[in-house]
Amino acid sequence: MKILGVETSCDETAVAVVENGRKVLSNIVVSQISEHNKYGGVVPEIASRRHTEWIGIAAKNALSEAGIKLEDIDAVAVTYAPGLIGALLIGVGFAKGLCYSLKKSLVPVHHLEGHIASLYISYPDLTPPFTVLVASGGHSHLIEVKDYTKFKTIGRAVDDAAGEAFDKVARKLGLGYPGGPAIARMASYGNPKGYELPNPKTKEPLDVSFSGLKTAVINIVNSAQMKGQQINVEDLAASFQDRVCDMLSSRLVESVKKSGLPIAVCGGVAANKVLKTKTEMIAAKEGIEVYFADRELCGDNAAMIASAGYYNYLNGVRGGLDLNAYATREIEEDSF
Ligand code: KG4
Ligand code: ZN
Repeated sequence: MKILGVETSCDETAVAVVENGRKVLSNIVVSQISEHNKYGGVVPEIASRRHTEWIGIAAKNALSEAGIKLEDIDAVAVTYAPGLIGALLIGVGFAKGLCYSLKKSLVPVHHLEGHIASLYISYPDLTPPFTVLVASGGHSHLIEVKDYTKFKTIGRAVDDAAGEAFDKVARKLGLGYPGGPAIARMASYGNPKGYELPNPKTKEPLDVSFSGLKTAVINIVNSAQMKGQQINVEDLAASFQDRVCDMLSSRLVESVKKSGLPIAVCGGVAANKVLKTKTEMIAAKEGIEVYFADRELCGDNAAMIASAGYYNYLNGVRGGLDLNAYATREIEEDSF
């Protein structure tokens, strides 16, 4: 079964074709990063306009790269939530139009379901149950994947998401957008013990908080500027990255100490090498299996949406022409 996936929740216009949930036939991602870069973050209005311009071209390319015609697809899966509302609506409208004209099924996909499905493409033998950390620009969710379409959130960021903290700190350090790769690059030249940073606690043990850590970095920069002192950007980036990765990996391993389930990491921040090394090290000590999504599938893409769409389709999930987009929505809230 071939599913066309459509993803427009943020600043990537993406269309892909995936066969039976795991085999990627094409995966087109048109990134708008270079355009948003100059504003230091994603400008929603620009994102929506670019999605409108690129979605048709991305779809044509996805079909031709997969070597199939529009009529050969069995269903269209689309991210309907969460994300930038204007951006999501472009993808949802496009998918609805395709399904209406082709008389094919429309399958709504929650963006986090999509990130989780990137693991099924990365590891063809991986099956639920497992516990996953979805760490992206908007989320730092710990989720129990009970089955392909059954989820339970057991921890989250109470303030800034991990990727958001990377982006904000990078901006303060003058490293540009997106902040994660920029900080990782700078940190590779720095000493992770160069600056002592706080380890903010949360009420719930599996939640995580990055806002205090981010503020600590901002205060270091402001206070150095006021005193006319230099900061060591490499050391500060390395210390910040180290602390974020410690917080994420320790919570992830902690969450499965009782269940012994395998752990997995996906989303943009999963591309971080320090996070991978730290998680693998502490998981190995506990004898826990670890799966990190393939690097090229960590960022937003439509192959992961088509993969999640396949499992939703098998579970009878369908969207009507009245399908709406939602800026915020929990992964458990799917009720199609
Ligand atoms: O999953 P994603 O592409 O989009 C969202 O759904 O948000 O994640 C983007 C986020 C950005 O905040 C970016 O700074 C972060 O992922 N990111 C990283 C790395 N690469 C991307 N964070 C840390 N280390 C990286 N290597
Ligand atoms: Zn994402």
